[in-house]
Amino acid sequence: MQRYYESKEITDFYAKYRGLYPKDTANHVIKHVVNNKRNYDESKKLERMLEVGCGSGQATNLFAPYFKEVIATDVSPNMIKRANQQNEFSHVRYAEGCAESIDAENGSVDMILSAECAHWFDLPKYFSEVSRVLKPDGSLALLCYYIPSIHPTGSAKEPYVEPYWKVLNELMSEATYNRDAYKELENFYPNIFLKIPSDQKVSFKMHKKITVSLAVYIAMLKTVDAFQNTKKDQLLNRFSGMLKKAWGLDENTDESQFNIDLHFEFRVIVARNLKSKI
Ligand SMILES: C[S@@+](CC[C@H](N)C(=O)[O-])C[C@H]1O[C@@H](n2cnc3c(N)ncnc32)[C@H](O)[C@@H]1O
Repeated sequence: MQRYYESKEITDFYAKYRGLYPKDTANHVIKHVVNNKRNYDESKKLERMLEVGCGSGQATNLFAPYFKEVIATDVSPNMIKRANQQNEFSHVRYAEGCAESIDAENGSVDMILSAECAHWFDLPKYFSEVSRVLKPDGSLALLCYYIPSIHPTGSAKEPYVEPYWKVLNELMSEATYNRDAYKELENFYPNIFLKIPSDQKVSFKMHKKITVSLAVYIAMLKTVDAFQNTKKDQLLNRFSGMLKKAWGLDENTDESQFNIDLHFEFRVIVARNLKSKI
């Protein structure tokens, strides 16, 4: 199992700089989830959600209002510790747990959520556990997003964009990471979608644009798992220097004073009637 999110440093950074899902993500997902329910009463909440790979609650917080009970699990003790420190819901419980052996009764959950993590899982074991734990009319929801595209702000023009990818690709080529998992993420889960053992699945995209300083963007990149086993500070300092040069900025430009627009694309997958046993 890949364990990138164990240290306090990375979990603190993650809690501060990630969790950028569009606000209406949960609303769109829940519409699909309740379509599958017989006799669903819209005035009531759904019973139980189980999250696998919850981090420090980035997606949990968006979905919690739709359920009476939420159990959110992650294999990293530090992520769970952090999630507990920030938990604002009395009906949300965080616990350590792993995707390949889920600690829940058969047929006990209305929705399983895994956000930005299914590419790390042993999928046959995970899907087998998901189909065991879901109620017969329950749904699986997967979310994923990749490194954002960058867009000029103010007077900067298009040439601004190409150097970004060049520099970023160079950075990625020096990082040590699971390239298969990243290919899947970069392409928004094409094979994971195919492998979900269900013939009732939908997939759609959502978008979000944010403006941040270059300093904040560098901090966000520090949380990317691909950079965890590398000399990331050194690499990212070089990244910043190369971007400034490519963009015609003075090397002493204050990173917190230079703003960039980031466009994130998200893939949302909702599946029901999973049938898998290994
Ligand atoms: C990129 S983070 C995503 C966190 C959060 N869900 C989000 O949307 O930002 C991936 C998380 O998956 C967890 N993870 C990785 N492999 C796991 C596994 N096999 N079982 C449970 N959690 C796992 C990591 O510890 C990490 O917290």
